[in-house]
Amino acid sequence: MSQLQTSKRKHPIGVFDSGVGGLTVFKSIVDKLPIYDYIYLGDNARVPYGTRSFDTVYKYTLEGITKLYELGCRLVIIACNTASAKALRTIQQNDLLNFDEPFKVLGVIRPTVEELGEYSKTRHVGVFATPGTVISNSYPLEIQKLYADISVFQQACPMWVPLVENNLHNTEGGQYFIKENINQLLIQSSEIDTIILGCTHYPILLPLLNSFVPKHIKILTQGEIVSNKLEDYLYRHPEIEVLISMDSKRTFFTTEDPQSFNNKAHLFINLEVSSLHIEN
Ligand code: DGL
Repeated sequence: MSQLQTSKRKHPIGVFDSGVGGLTVFKSIVDKLPIYDYIYLGDNARVPYGTRSFDTVYKYTLEGITKLYELGCRLVIIACNTASAKALRTIQQNDLLNFDEPFKVLGVIRPTVEELGEYSKTRHVGVFATPGTVISNSYPLEIQKLYADISVFQQACPMWVPLVENNLHNTEGGQYFIKENINQLLIQSSEIDTIILGCTHYPILLPLLNSFVPKHIKILTQGEIVSNKLEDYLYRHPEIEVLISMDSKRTFFTTEDPQSFNNKAHLFINLEVSSLHIEN
């Protein structure tokens, strides 16, 4: 048998999100680790997840990662904060053992929190996230586990995802909602020196946020953090790394209209993609 036939490297890395927002994380991962193959799955037909119940987010997320497994992925990154907050733990504890082959699913909240300690001097940290992520309390709980001295102030921003999805964030009306949520966060503590953008879509708002948030406050986006952590994870888990195919292939699936997905990918993160439809 040739070396190619015996190679175990036949599994792409999966990246799952409720829609296009996860492409912000995907882009950073691919920039950092370009050699691997990737499959991105956006559940655009059912976005947003941020306002849905625990049961629904869990069901949709399990369906999404199962599709990625069926498409050949044995390692999936859940780029969506809401899904990481509401579904990841249950999936890791109850569902992964039911797959025929070893299957790892990682989220974005824990890696983000691990990095946090380096940034905040005042130990007052803000989090912008969807209502679902805020209600889950995942950020405060994870932060407390690692940094008992950090006080966490959360602000749900229910309008931010629809504003981005509809490309309305640069309008006067859009900026009104963005400023309002910034004020609602900053009024909770005058000592906040670090803000986590705990949602895939929010990095697209970064230029606006940087112009509205006082300059001394550091705004953390997740793309670079998650890609660094993934590199580290693969280094620490050679038994998984050795399974991943390395032809630099990228494949995109959406549960909605591929053309609309392609347009948003281009508009929001300047990524040229040719996505395929997959049923949800
Ligand atoms: N992907 C979601 C998140 O990061 C935002 C979009 C949604 O609500 O589905 O929380």
